[in-house]
Amino acid sequence: MPDQLSSPVGLPPGDDSRRTFMKQAGGLLGFTLTAPLAGRAERLTAYSTVLEGPSPVSLRINGQARALHLEPRTTLLDALREYLDLTGTKKGCDHGQCGACTVHVDGRRINSCLTLAVMSQGKDITTIEGLAKGDALHPMQEAFLKHDGFQCGYCTPGQIMSGVACVREDHATTDDQAREWMSGNLCRCGAYPNILAAVREVAGRLTKG
Ligand code: FES
Ligand code: FES
Repeated sequence: MPDQLSSPVGLPPGDDSRRTFMKQAGGLLGFTLTAPLAGRAERLTAYSTVLEGPSPVSLRINGQARALHLEPRTTLLDALREYLDLTGTKKGCDHGQCGACTVHVDGRRINSCLTLAVMSQGKDITTIEGLAKGDALHPMQEAFLKHDGFQCGYCTPGQIMSGVACVREDHATTDDQAREWMSGNLCRCGAYPNILAAVREVAGRLTKG
């Protein structure tokens, strides 16, 4: 019998003592469980409040601070193209499959169609528009021109951004390696041999110092 097993020897618990015990236990449990749970609920409520409707978002793009009001679901790609008129970054698949939307965030290449703008706050974002220094093209841009690395040009900004990062990562030391590490960037025109030549030339120049 549970009551007898849990009672002090010789003192079978009456209803009163059981009620007292339950009250005390309930009080203790209430104290230990309610506080953290309430805290979590408050935090969730706070998050849901922040995530409602357009909110201020501050992005640092190509060295410039840009202030926006965006829905939390806005991708970095849409923020660039639709709100900042930085249309050099292209939207191909919008599903992370083609690489047309490649930009650099803190020096690393990312698919901006898979990245929320709010997640990019406080980071350095570089787009194709920020690659040249005034009239001086980036060496990768020059190499693409020299090797005819584009046909329609639609994939080109993403290819160039990826190429720059690929060389920086030291992932373009052989043709096979460069092909592998550039494989996230698709070109419907099939300009791959020329793109590869451009990337390899820049990698070679850096290797020679
Ligand atoms: S548009 Fe982002 S990967 Fe295709
Ligand atoms: S040059 Fe046309 S898609 Fe690449």
